[in-house]
Amino acid sequence: MDPYLTEWLNLLLRFLHVITGIAWIGASFYFIWLDNHLEKPPQWKIDQGIKGDLWAIHGGGFYEVAKYQLAPRTMPSTLHWFKWEAYTTWITGFFLLALMYYVGAEVYLIDKRIADLTQWQAIGVGLTVIIGGWFCYDLLCNSKLAKQGGILGIVLLTLATALAYFLTHTFSARGAYIHMGAVIGTIMVGNVFRIIIPSQQALVTAVKTGKMPDPQWGAKAKLRSTHNTYTTLPLVFIMISNHYPITYSHAYNWAILIAIIVITAISRQYFVLRHKGIHKPGILIGAGIATVVLAISMAPFALFTSKPTSPAQAHTTMVEKHHQPAIVDVVQIEQVLKNRCASCHSIKPTDNTFRIAPGGVLLDDILAMQQWAPRIKARVIDATDMPFMNKTGMTQPERELIARWIAQGAPAS
Ligand code: HEC
Repeated sequence: MDPYLTEWLNLLLRFLHVITGIAWIGASFYFIWLDNHLEKPPQWKIDQGIKGDLWAIHGGGFYEVAKYQLAPRTMPSTLHWFKWEAYTTWITGFFLLALMYYVGAEVYLIDKRIADLTQWQAIGVGLTVIIGGWFCYDLLCNSKLAKQGGILGIVLLTLATALAYFLTHTFSARGAYIHMGAVIGTIMVGNVFRIIIPSQQALVTAVKTGKMPDPQWGAKAKLRSTHNTYTTLPLVFIMISNHYPITYSHAYNWAILIAIIVITAISRQYFVLRHKGIHKPGILIGAGIATVVLAISMAPFALFTSKPTSPAQAHTTMVEKHHQPAIVDVVQIEQVLKNRCASCHSIKPTDNTFRIAPGGVLLDDILAMQQWAPRIKARVIDATDMPFMNKTGMTQPERELIARWIAQGAPAS
């Protein structure tokens, strides 16, 4: 496909995906908030079958929301459902995944340094994981384990860890992260489509026919929406993770992903409790401390031990320690960056996929290289994920050379 066309399709799909995702998550946050803030209504409302009510002010008006014990005696003429937000988020997400990572598998999904897959093999693995993930999860939730929420949670987290490990050892780092997101997102939408909406339908039918709904539905729907509550923040992290090679490009990227999933899920717990009037700031403080510990433990330069984590780092540290930096030849730097980067990062890229300089990063001359030095350090020395998939074959000594140049303040002459 023409790269210009792909870029437009990508933009439109991503735009729609973000908008529908906001609508879905927004509605979901709102209803959890609503449910947890309901207050005991006055007696005359209880007599009408109302279980809890709530007053709010927004956009210049007062709102009163009432929740029924089970259901109203007669069905209202208009009943609003919330499902298309979830479905369209999944559909646009799936097309975006297919466009970027399946049509563009050679560019974004396959990393020959990790696994030498063909395009169809990679797509096959990707789809199997997404579909298999749902069936595996659904089976577990329908098993006896469902009665022990805590144990089920631990089993699911263990499986997620195994999956993260497998994906990061099969796909490119970004492809692995995004597939983890696709698996979680598919499970969340599956919960809406297969369990939560059918349980609501059963409730509506019960009201219409005047029969009691099967109580099993209620318990099932509750378990699934609880899971959706705690997977929302991890999923949002994965959606933005593509901007942060410090996470996905790390040698222990799978463990980092799981750590962030746990931290973000626990942070959600603070808000769920707070809605109920239970203040436990310890949860947020704990999550904050865990984030700092994570950041320190995955730092590209070990902050406190001065033990380098990459050979390029080792070199800079050594140079800095001896205070006798060997002066780098700027002409050589310009040559290396031109050879290894300019095929993508130039006014007129020659790369077969990237026809417009990615990220607006132009590395045509030494002044531009100097300007971008901090980001070059971040991507070439710390995260080591540039050149993209090392398509231009940058060598370790070249990285060390760049590291030295930056350590000397990235001189232009
Ligand atoms: C095969 C194409 C390709 C090559 C070669 C390449 N890059 Fe990139 N670069 C990309 C793509 C795609 C992105 C945008 C996606 C991203 O940020 O991960 C990018 C983004 C960047 C960014 C901007 C994002 C940020 O972190 O600020 C920098 C800086 C960068 N590359 C530096 C380099 C350097 C330095 C080299 C050479 C050592 C290089 N790249 C080689 C494709 C390439």
